[in-house]
Amino acid sequence: MKILLTGCDGQVGWEISRKAPDYNFDVIATDIHNLDITDIEAIRTLQAKKQVDIIINSAAYTAVDKAESDKDLAYSVNALGAKNLAIVAAENNLPILHISTDYVFSGNTTIPYADDSTPDPQGVYGESKLAGELQVAETNARHLTLRTSWVFGIEGQNFVKTMLRLGAENNEISVVADQFGSPTFAGHIATALLKLTKQYHESGDLPWGNYNFCDAGITTWHMFANKIMAIGVEKGILDQSPIVQPIRTEEYPTAASRPPYSVMDCSRFAETFPHIGISSWESGLREMIQTLADQGI
Ligand SMILES: NC(=O)c1ccc[n+]([C@@H]2O[C@H](COP(=O)([O-])OP(=O)(O)OC[C@H]3O[C@@H](n4cnc5c(N)ncnc54)[C@H](OP(=O)(O)O)[C@@H]3O)[C@@H](O)[C@H]2O)c1
Repeated sequence: MKILLTGCDGQVGWEISRKAPDYNFDVIATDIHNLDITDIEAIRTLQAKKQVDIIINSAAYTAVDKAESDKDLAYSVNALGAKNLAIVAAENNLPILHISTDYVFSGNTTIPYADDSTPDPQGVYGESKLAGELQVAETNARHLTLRTSWVFGIEGQNFVKTMLRLGAENNEISVVADQFGSPTFAGHIATALLKLTKQYHESGDLPWGNYNFCDAGITTWHMFANKIMAIGVEKGILDQSPIVQPIRTEEYPTAASRPPYSVMDCSRFAETFPHIGISSWESGLREMIQTLADQGI
């Protein structure tokens, strides 16, 4: 089974690359330096040469705030790039596995979003990702898109690494306490995508469509930060935990607005793919911080 993987240097892509050999998959690992997904002819050329069996797109423009002033590039990568991959997949009768985000929803709710809840993105990043989701679905019937949230991973920059750095440098920090969501470990997303690939490999089919896929557990950035500090101390990365003061969203202004409640109901994924299931974000956090501790970070 040969996989064309895009965005291999990103949080999720890196995890897919490192876990794929466990499944005996051959991965053609690419990132922007050797495959720019906005260039459809480059994708066609690579497919003609490599003859892969499935495409997994983990490439994206993920700078949520920067996207507000960089709309063309955000759309180019998240909408056109995703569509290009879906087109080349369809031309070659291949399926595509894609990733989307909670930012397709407004977050102005108090109940978890279902897979078929109406999207209502509030910023450029969410709009561009929604456009990508729709174009992948329109272009290739054999698509499976996982919508995920608050991704953290061993490789790349993310909230967990920022908190560990701030925790080492400060006795007190302030973190937003009125936004709710589900942190999701990049390693869990990678495992799900690889198990979906395995299922496709064994059966030649998948129940295609869009699925919410997040780690289990609802928290706030403030509670997440407290847990990061506690595990950081437990694993010896931090000498002690700083005081984590709760603040309101208004006290931490950002260029793009954040969904106040971006919790997604992932029960359809769990029921459709019981052999994959949903893990807790806390188990992913422990795995990540243990790995950082082992690396001496
Ligand atoms: N991060 C989150 O909190 C989060 C939350 C929900 C959903 N998601 C979704 O999850 C997926 C994976 O996210 P992630 O956190 O792993 O993202 P990431 O760490 O930002 O990785 C994305 C990778 O794509 C690369 N890339 C950018 N433009 C490209 C292009 N034109 N052609 C090829 N590669 C390109 C990036 O390279 P450069 O670094 O050089 O730009 C980067 O290596 C994305 O679809 C994202 O929208 C992420």
